[in-house]
Amino acid sequence: MAARLIKDGVYSVGAVDWNERRFHGYTYATKRGVTYNSYLIVDEKITLIDTVRGGFENELIGNIKEVVDPSKIDTIIINHIEPDHSGAFPEMLKTCPNAKIYGTKTAKSGLLKYYGSVGDWTTVKSEQSLNIGKRILNFIDVPMIHWPDSMFTYSAYDKILFSNDGFGQHYATNKIFDDEVNFNDLMDEAQKYYANILWPFSLLVASKLTAMSKLNLDIKLIAPSHGLIWREHVQEIIKTYFYWSSNSCKNRVAVIYETMWNSTEKMARKIVEGITSQGVEAALFDVTKNDRTDIASYMLDAKGWIFGSSTHDGEMLPVIAGFLHFLKGSKAKGRKSFAFGSYGWNCGAIKNIEDMVSGITTLSQPLKIVFNPTQEELDMCFKAGKDFALEIKDSKLYGQ
Ligand code: FEO
Repeated sequence: MAARLIKDGVYSVGAVDWNERRFHGYTYATKRGVTYNSYLIVDEKITLIDTVRGGFENELIGNIKEVVDPSKIDTIIINHIEPDHSGAFPEMLKTCPNAKIYGTKTAKSGLLKYYGSVGDWTTVKSEQSLNIGKRILNFIDVPMIHWPDSMFTYSAYDKILFSNDGFGQHYATNKIFDDEVNFNDLMDEAQKYYANILWPFSLLVASKLTAMSKLNLDIKLIAPSHGLIWREHVQEIIKTYFYWSSNSCKNRVAVIYETMWNSTEKMARKIVEGITSQGVEAALFDVTKNDRTDIASYMLDAKGWIFGSSTHDGEMLPVIAGFLHFLKGSKAKGRKSFAFGSYGWNCGAIKNIEDMVSGITTLSQPLKIVFNPTQEELDMCFKAGKDFALEIKDSKLYGQ
């Protein structure tokens, strides 16, 4: 991908990872690929904001060369040290021998641990700024968006917020702005990104958003280090981040299950029928057929989470066990839930599920049946779904 002008003197020079399908090790399914955005500001001091993932150094340097001689870079700002942004840092230290490096205190210690060197380093923090010529860059600490070292950089001259992981989406494309792609697809990816990257840190996200709103920054572009730049929908994505980080929910229920001989699946389908009979939205997820990151995206603002598993050797089935383990990391709260499942002679799965989710949900009575459900038992499942939907609708704790 070539260097692209996003504002007078400001270029996007990062890399597009078209074929990345598993990000963060194996944790995140990226069906649209990933970008590692990096921004070059040509001012009296030539400034690079963030680098890219290791392995994409040549793409970054090649893009910079289309604009300036990389050895002339005066300043490198490290908004975040995770290797998808800092992997090319060692190469950039060699390529830009005169560059001064700026980042937070925790960024410095992290980079030293990763790479053994931070170059000509200056530690910065919120309310500090850097004059690079016509522009003054302001630093804003945003710990845990996404790691303790994270910060945003704001250019009042350009009215651009360089937000690194904040407001990102995993969306590889040759487009650059939000209004150049399908908006619903973009918001789906932004929601999935929030659910799988930032959800556990929602309290901090909410408090940082509130603090930032008090700064009254004039933001015309939000330039994250993943995905599209927000231009047309700046206020909408900020408002949506307030919504996601507030743990607000819709009248929506995710029914997530794993089944052995389809009995638990029959229960799941009847539960969904009962829920939707009351006009409440519900979706059915067989954990063996859906990626957990897509399920998490749906669950992010769902008021109800219902979990089912057949019992095998006295325990819940292994794929849903892995999913529930993954879900504990969300640190969500206040969701309503119940467990269900079919069993033969020992219904261990229900206890397993309840033990796993009791810290993040409020559990109602479980629903368990022996072997294959009878019509009467299927009617019970329908009623359980219907009653759950009525409870969800009446819930005053969450929702809009
Ligand atoms: Fe995109 Fe936390 O790294």
